[in-house]
Amino acid sequence: MGTQEIFENTRKLLEKHNQGHLLAFWEQLSDQQKEAFLGQVVALDFARLEDYWPNLARNGVSATVGGDFTAAPSYGPVPADAEQRDKYARARNVGAELISAGKVAAFVVAGGQATRLGFDGPKGNFPISPVKNKTLFQIFAEFIAATGEKYHTVCPWYIMTSPLNHTDTREIFEANDYYGLDGKNVFMFQQGTLPNFDFEGKILLATKDRIACSPDGHGGSLTALYRSGAIEDMKKRGIEYVSYFQVDNPLLNIFDPLFVGLHVLDGAEMSSKALLKTGPKERVGNFCLVDGKVTVIEYSDLPDELAQKRNADGSLVFELGSIALHIINTSFIEKLNSEAGLSLPLHRAVKKIPHINDRGELVAPAEPNGIKLESFVFDALPLASNSLILQTLRSEEFAPVKNATGVDNAETARKMIAARAAAWLETAGVPLPRKPDGSADCTIEIAPSFALEKDDVKAKLDRLPDIKPKDNVYLS
Ligand code: UD1
Repeated sequence: MGTQEIFENTRKLLEKHNQGHLLAFWEQLSDQQKEAFLGQVVALDFARLEDYWPNLARNGVSATVGGDFTAAPSYGPVPADAEQRDKYARARNVGAELISAGKVAAFVVAGGQATRLGFDGPKGNFPISPVKNKTLFQIFAEFIAATGEKYHTVCPWYIMTSPLNHTDTREIFEANDYYGLDGKNVFMFQQGTLPNFDFEGKILLATKDRIACSPDGHGGSLTALYRSGAIEDMKKRGIEYVSYFQVDNPLLNIFDPLFVGLHVLDGAEMSSKALLKTGPKERVGNFCLVDGKVTVIEYSDLPDELAQKRNADGSLVFELGSIALHIINTSFIEKLNSEAGLSLPLHRAVKKIPHINDRGELVAPAEPNGIKLESFVFDALPLASNSLILQTLRSEEFAPVKNATGVDNAETARKMIAARAAAWLETAGVPLPRKPDGSADCTIEIAPSFALEKDDVKAKLDRLPDIKPKDNVYLS
């Protein structure tokens, strides 16, 4: 088919979907631009285009709130009774064996824009550790390397970027020599994009020859893992489980044998870690059971009366917040992609979207003028045949770097990293100088090579310096 014929077909298709305006500047484009532009239009996924509009008009909430909608059960951070103590011990062994056997890979979603943080560049490059100022990427890389050492194995790392930050991310890794990891075991791939719309449902043009698009949300990772060949690579390496995490949390335990073990013992396909929320409206996803299926309802979608609802003992009914850490079976990801095609709900976000107007002039709106659509990875939870939730402690595993100021900022995260390090040392019996308010009067940073978990500290006690008030101590 020649370009003219493709153009005619595309024009008809666009007009049918009420998007004919996209060709307004066609005659002004060079042949090369025309070809590239047609490529973008064809990639729009017309089959799904019809589905976009209802999602644009109202928010695509993960599940209908109402009906059979209850709190989700979970495993506690410590076993509840003797039977569970036994199960946790077995799970730890099973998890450790699977990690040692190289069956678990790390997977970070790093395609977001870090707009709230106001940081220029990929968020993973944000410096955060309290003594050495290591970046998020470096902390994760060292965690992965130290896990390989501890379990005498290789833990590959899959990294999802987006067209917005792929080149920058790749350059950062290259400039840092992959933080000591073997580049062969770091698999970087890009997520897909979705078009941006105005409030009438018309797709916006970024330039005369480019459709305005944005990353398709972390839910896009489930498709991108498959399409990029990452799943194929995992199969070759014998990987069966993916430890999914976000780029913003320097405290998380990427390879937790207990979590992996419970997931496997319970025959789950996709599992989650949770913590007790700080209050009804903490900005985290809420774990619920909808029609018997574990589901996450985003804080913005949980009606106020449900968010505030309390049990007789005063605790919140929906008390479990998501830290966005999941174990996902590679076979589950394959299944989602091979059955009728994966179609997670699309959530809308009203945003300021730069675009060109019908005169071809660039508009940088001061107020929100359009809609971006995203899918969320946790919308795959109800599709899993089984899904468990393991509670963790905030002080141990959740210090997200989200905002420039206010809650969850870089300073709060730095303090939490140092506070956890101090707590680990004290649990191992190391006395630390304390301020009158009880907080540690020193700043400690524990490198993953020194300890991955609290219990690892005990074996290193002979390597500890004498810690005096106001000291900055780095343990590696
Ligand atoms: C997220 C979760 C929330 C959870 C909280 C825990 C959503 C909608 N909400 O909130 O349920 O309790 O974290 O900290 O996710 N990303 C991509 N591609 C995209 C969009 C995002 O890779 O297209 C990545 C980001 O790089 C980041 C992660 O997804 O690693 C989270 O994105 P973000 O938008 O920051 O989510 P939050 O609203 O903070």
